[in-house]
Amino acid sequence: MAIIRREHEPDVEAVRALQAAAFAGDSDAEPVEVGLLDALRTCEGWIPELSLVAEHEGGVVGHNVCTRGFINEVACVGLGPIGIQPKLQNGGFGSALMHAMIGAADALGEPVIALLGSPDYYRRFGFVAATSIGIAPPEAAWGDFFQALPLSTWTSDMTGQFRYAAPFHELD
Ligand SMILES: CC(C)(COP(=O)(O)OP(=O)(O)OC[C@H]1O[C@@H](n2cnc3c(N)ncnc32)[C@H](O)[C@@H]1OP(=O)(O)O)[C@@H](O)C(=O)NCCC(=O)NCCS
Repeated sequence: MAIIRREHEPDVEAVRALQAAAFAGDSDAEPVEVGLLDALRTCEGWIPELSLVAEHEGGVVGHNVCTRGFINEVACVGLGPIGIQPKLQNGGFGSALMHAMIGAADALGEPVIALLGSPDYYRRFGFVAATSIGIAPPEAAWGDFFQALPLSTWTSDMTGQFRYAAPFHELD
């Protein structure tokens, strides 16, 4: 059982380490998601209310974050990274973080959450191909892997190309 709560300053190093472990795969190199997270923390798109951790048995075992994005001039949020300690993956922590994030973003009045990821995972939370509601990905090649979840304040005229917080666009 996990507690999902806002990240606090003392969590930052543990969060960095767990995201590094979550995205490590077979490589010894630091995953790009770690540098991305570092850069997001200091950019103007950082939203402290939307950096969430899963706490389990006294430790931080999962983290997800939404940062400021835009569809043309409409402010909304982009989700990522999300990562769970490898040994605890497929144990429901990611789902708990996603449900908490959706509730938190909706409570803040954010109209849409956008993300790049596997439709097989995110459709269970209500995400749809972003293009199906008129939101174009930053890169056309992302296709249906670029997904969106309309929230309470979303209106169907919120269409156009999605723009993430700057660090996402500086990745390569
Ligand atoms: C992806 C991730 C956040 C999911 O969190 P989790 O706690 O492991 O997953 P949950 O327990 O909530 O959900 C388990 C379900 O998700 C599915 N799932 C897990 N990772 C998946 C992935 N990358 N793609 C598609 N489905 C995935 C499992 O097959 C399982 O499906 P089922 O319910 O039909 O059996 C986590 O596995 C993780 O940190 N992975 C490494 C980092 C990563 O890939 N982040 C996401 C980038 S978009």
